[in-house]
Amino acid sequence: MHLTPEEQALLAGEAGHATQKAMEILTALGRIYGAERMIAVGSVQISGVSYANLGEAGLSWLAEMADGGGKTRVFTTLNPAGMDIENYTNLGISEEFAENQRRVLSAFDRMGVVTTCSCTPYLFGNLPRFGEHIAWAESSAVCYANAVIGARTNREGGPSALAAALTGRTPAYGYHLDENRQPTLHVQVKAAVTKNPDFGALGKAIGDRIQSQSGYRVPLISGVSEANLENLKSLCASIATYGGVALFHIPGITPEASAYALPTESLTLTDEDLQRAKQELNTASREEVDFVSLGCPHLSLREIHRIAELLNGKRVTKEFWITTSRPVKGMADRMGYTEIIETAGAKFATDTCCVVAPIKGRFTALATDSAKACYYAYAKNNFKTRLLPFDEVVREACQ
Ligand code: F3S
Repeated sequence: MHLTPEEQALLAGEAGHATQKAMEILTALGRIYGAERMIAVGSVQISGVSYANLGEAGLSWLAEMADGGGKTRVFTTLNPAGMDIENYTNLGISEEFAENQRRVLSAFDRMGVVTTCSCTPYLFGNLPRFGEHIAWAESSAVCYANAVIGARTNREGGPSALAAALTGRTPAYGYHLDENRQPTLHVQVKAAVTKNPDFGALGKAIGDRIQSQSGYRVPLISGVSEANLENLKSLCASIATYGGVALFHIPGITPEASAYALPTESLTLTDEDLQRAKQELNTASREEVDFVSLGCPHLSLREIHRIAELLNGKRVTKEFWITTSRPVKGMADRMGYTEIIETAGAKFATDTCCVVAPIKGRFTALATDSAKACYYAYAKNNFKTRLLPFDEVVREACQ
């Protein structure tokens, strides 16, 4: 693998121990994937932030990198943490967990990482341009960056994302290269796809069909004529969760779709396929639901506005988490949405989400509009699930 003189100096330890370790990680990764060189990245997004996932082993590695003089060379933000940094007691998070989570954030802070914890960094300033090389880690955000924005990133792990942050580099392989961005499968959708659960079900149906494929799986999805930002973030979260997909194209909607010919391999998805995908995520009865959450991926201001409209003058009867980033919550505060939502008894779970927070054993069944949240609610916390349209989730919280 060719390294520039500057990259060789980093590898030789001339910029300190942490940066040397970071270059060792990246060159090892490059060798494994056959990269010929490194490329500069414009931004980084790091996952593996919740202390519940990191534990002491992960935390001590972060501390070693911070103590070793690691400093970010590009704009870097974090995935959700295990708690709302300012409001964790209201969410039932213990003081012991909070202390450990603060140690994690402190290590990132010492390295110059912007400790805004969110899976939708593109909503508040970590927004790459078309064609820009980046190194992001959260699977839904990686898919959104590749597919919707047309930026270029592999799905990084926590250590490789941090290594990219400390060096400003990543090995040139995978979705950074033109040849791996070409569609490999034509998915013809013959069903109405309009609301978030429809897009989530579409992602699940595609993912279920292509899971057995290896290599770079890039669906070109035809038959979807409209999708807003929120629909697309739902699709990205779902298709990444169920199919490991990091890039798709939709003619007329995503920026690279017109650059490619239709792939020869194809499959058709009908309304029946989407209904089946939804049914598989509806394992709880209405009576069993004792936890409601919206914001997987983290909510946009438009979605919070809609929740405020629906909750105005109402009272929630179940634990209801509104998960979003702190900058978006700040805008909701200013617009008066937060006051309406909290007066109704719902809770903001800012900086975190219903998947990475340590809530196993606290609830029986989750109602949500997110196919990804359904997957992890069961896989991680053993909750039953109800997948509903956005407005109905809010109504469910008030039943
Ligand atoms: Fe984001 Fe948590 Fe869902 S990280 S995509 S809200 S599982």
